[in-house]
Amino acid sequence: MRLEAIDHVGLAVGDLEAAVERYRATLGIEPIHRERVETQGVEEVLFAVGDSFIQLLGALGPETPVGRFLERRGEGVHHIGYRVPDVAAALEELKRRGARLIDDAPRAGSRGTTIAFVHPASMGGVLVELVQV
Ligand code: CO
Repeated sequence: MRLEAIDHVGLAVGDLEAAVERYRATLGIEPIHRERVETQGVEEVLFAVGDSFIQLLGALGPETPVGRFLERRGEGVHHIGYRVPDVAAALEELKRRGARLIDDAPRAGSRGTTIAFVHPASMGGVLVELVQV
């Protein structure tokens, strides 16, 4: 499996607008993308950092994955997204190696990407996302 880059680091935030403002005011960077992803129960805002992104994730409700994460662990790093050339091939490789997957098959992510999640149980407690741009 070829990991081309850290595509993004996803951060769970309780108040998306306040978090965007904090990044603006503290780091002096401007958001380049905003998207509501109903199927994942999140609204995301992206800041570019070189070829990678910081992804702020606000929950669309308490019974969403990010909503439950915030309830359980509070604000902070939610997942790491690795850029790969072929998510389907990477998933097959992970299956062969016995990794526990959240997604058996690739699905649509934000920005027109193709993604899949690997279960944190296989990754030392860190949720991992594979991202094909
Ligand atoms: Co992500």
